[in-house]
Amino acid sequence: METFSSWMILCILVAMGTLAPHVEARPFFVFGDSLVDNGNNNYLATSARADSPPYGIDYPSHRPTGRFSNGLNIPDLISERMGTESTLPYLSPELTGERLLVGANFASAGVGVLNDTGIQFLNIIRIYKQLEYFQQYQSRVSTLIGAEQTQALVNQALVLITLGGNDFVNNYYLVPFSARSRQFSLPDYVRYVISEYRKVLVRLYELGARRVLVTGTGPMGCVPAELAQRSPTGQCAVELQRAAALFNPQLEQMVSGVNSEIGSQVFIAANTRRMTTDFISNPAAYGFVTSKIACCGQGLYNGIGLCTPLSNLCPNRDIYAFWDAFHPSERANRIIVQRIFTGSDEYMKPMNLSTILALDSKT
Ligand SMILES: *[C@@H]1O[C@H](CO)[C@@H](O)[C@H](O)[C@H]1NC(C)=O
Ligand SMILES: *[C@@H]1O[C@H](CO)[C@@H](O)[C@H](O)[C@H]1NC(C)=O
Repeated sequence: METFSSWMILCILVAMGTLAPHVEARPFFVFGDSLVDNGNNNYLATSARADSPPYGIDYPSHRPTGRFSNGLNIPDLISERMGTESTLPYLSPELTGERLLVGANFASAGVGVLNDTGIQFLNIIRIYKQLEYFQQYQSRVSTLIGAEQTQALVNQALVLITLGGNDFVNNYYLVPFSARSRQFSLPDYVRYVISEYRKVLVRLYELGARRVLVTGTGPMGCVPAELAQRSPTGQCAVELQRAAALFNPQLEQMVSGVNSEIGSQVFIAANTRRMTTDFISNPAAYGFVTSKIACCGQGLYNGIGLCTPLSNLCPNRDIYAFWDAFHPSERANRIIVQRIFTGSDEYMKPMNLSTILALDSKT
């Protein structure tokens, strides 16, 4: 409460132009797919949505919010640790006035790096549209605090971008003989997605982002949906594992290449594949009873179809690594976010988020 009221005063001072937006609470912007969507798709005519129970069952409101989680997701947990409120979806009518100054979430479930990823979901906010909204956001904020201070606000923000999984799951491997798989061998496709991703990151930099966490994909072949469809024996599906093994190291390399070109460590690669593989390969060590069976779903591994009010639902979400057929539980997200903050350079390159926050608070 106290931090909130001092924040309000700060916002008012910023709005009056008496104070540069040099803040204790760092603005936070989020881009990407369902792993980080805080509810934008609720405002769209799309089938990629998480707006009915039991989604949100462990969220503070115990209601679905559009997050693909039983409770908090990765950006929520980053906000929590930074001591800030969760980012509001950019499309939320509540995101107005001084609320804009703490950041926004532009992510949309179903999107990928490529424009043709997720077309089956119809109306989703593709990544270039997310970037366009970011630009629109900046002009809205400019009318509140002026262009110069808006620039400063964006420059000092933390940014998170999570993309790539859907370019495989909901594109290349969506159906046998997909258009992309006929066009590209897997290694060529990975190179193509990476080269397109590079353009997205460069655009984010052009739009003013100066600290950007870039997560990789998880071990995509191990999610309950893929086990159910491709691997009844319970071994992680080979082709998707191969895709993750090709994609993630190249993403790290690309990120480091962009940093060299810029001459500054703007982009930070989070090895979410490794973070997730840790608890998938040894669930018991992390307090999970299973990393194969989703908490919410039906069929083999609860991995078939969507999580709906009619699905099987586990009584204790904390002991499941996967909430639904594709998305980690809040507990699993906490393990990932813990690594993002404190992981060694095997997890976070060139450095973890604690180090970044400490470095940036000195400047
Ligand atoms: C994807 O769409 C954006 C915006 O519409 C466009 O600028 C970009 O060139 C497209 N990418 C490809 C590879 O077609
Ligand atoms: C973060 O990274 C730094 C540098 O690699 C490391 O020394 C430190 O132990 C890590 N954890 C924390 C909490 O800073």
